[in-house]
Amino acid sequence: MDYTKNIKSWKLSKFLLNNNFIFNRSYILKNVPSLMLTNAYNSISKWKNYNNTPLLKLDKLQKKLDLNNIFYKDESKRFHLKSFKALGGAYAVEKISKGKKNIIISSATAGNHGRSVAWGAQRLNLKCKIFVSQYVSENRVKEIKKFGAEVIRVKGNYEDSLRECQKMSKKNNWKIVQDVSTKNYRYIPQLTMAGYSIMIKEISKQTNQYITHIFLQAGVGGLAAGVVAGVAKYFKKIPKIIIVEPDRADCVLQSIKSNKLKKIRIKKESIMGGMSCNEMSLVPWQVLKKASNCCVSISDKDIAKTIAGLKDKKFSKTSITGGECAAPGVIALIGICNNIKAKKMINLSKKSNILVIGCEGNADVKLYQQLLSKGRK
Ligand SMILES: Cc1ncc(COP(=O)(O)O)c(C=O)c1O
Repeated sequence: MDYTKNIKSWKLSKFLLNNNFIFNRSYILKNVPSLMLTNAYNSISKWKNYNNTPLLKLDKLQKKLDLNNIFYKDESKRFHLKSFKALGGAYAVEKISKGKKNIIISSATAGNHGRSVAWGAQRLNLKCKIFVSQYVSENRVKEIKKFGAEVIRVKGNYEDSLRECQKMSKKNNWKIVQDVSTKNYRYIPQLTMAGYSIMIKEISKQTNQYITHIFLQAGVGGLAAGVVAGVAKYFKKIPKIIIVEPDRADCVLQSIKSNKLKKIRIKKESIMGGMSCNEMSLVPWQVLKKASNCCVSISDKDIAKTIAGLKDKKFSKTSITGGECAAPGVIALIGICNNIKAKKMINLSKKSNILVIGCEGNADVKLYQQLLSKGRK
């Protein structure tokens, strides 16, 4: 059965044009400093098992949607973590440890960032303490422990786990590595974003086609801001930037709509777990409030079908392992193509070269299998 036959009916939940759009390379590269990007690439590209992740083509989908090219950056092949997250937390660990062997790394996490930090510490033989709330699944805890970290459960939510991590780290002189920036905490999150930017450095060498549109999934906005910084540094022509979020956790869209940082209330968690965030990180806000052309939100409805479609070669000639946070870029692209007004507003046409980021593979193996079989039904 072709469960992707009905893609013409896939819809966006919301579409919002950014009235304050202005892409200013030097402003962006002040917020995520250009030299940090250079240093991140120079370090990470020397890591053991480093390779460019593949830049694939969704050639079947580009035909269906009548677009020139759809490029898919396949982050399922990124180191052991099967996700772009490997470039962020792990790089920050390396940078702040400065070769010392007697320091202890700590972090609070909802899952993905903590894995990257734990892996980064393990790479350097450093001890690592990861704090998680009572809501983080046992499966995610297991994944973090696989990288040798001690996991400490804290009663309450993410904010409680962060508070406990800060308290214990102060007391014991552990080095905290968080990916969310606030007014007085910018450097380490900037390092994680600099790590993410190397995806764009790689792409600038993987194709000589000018990318016209980039679809960027967002949770707190770190991935999106890191990629935007990469674009500001490495791309000759500036593409349109489209931010994609779950409709249940659209904190970027709501912030851009009201032109100020907005904390939202999540009534029900989205299946797009890594993107289910209620408030943006500060540096990403400063970047994205200007550099994004538009924001879209999507529901959970088509995630499983898209995961199955990627796997079963419905969108490309090759089979792709893309998880619940990889699918949203593809869904948002399809949703915009089905919305004539939105499509026109961002100049999507048969001349367009699109980039979607396949953020992760089967990082959560159990969930991936469940979604794959659901999508195939
Ligand atoms: C696995 C995963 N985690 C988290 C995120 C969110 O990243 P950020 O919080 O930096 O916006 C994404 C993508 O948006 C993702 O693919």
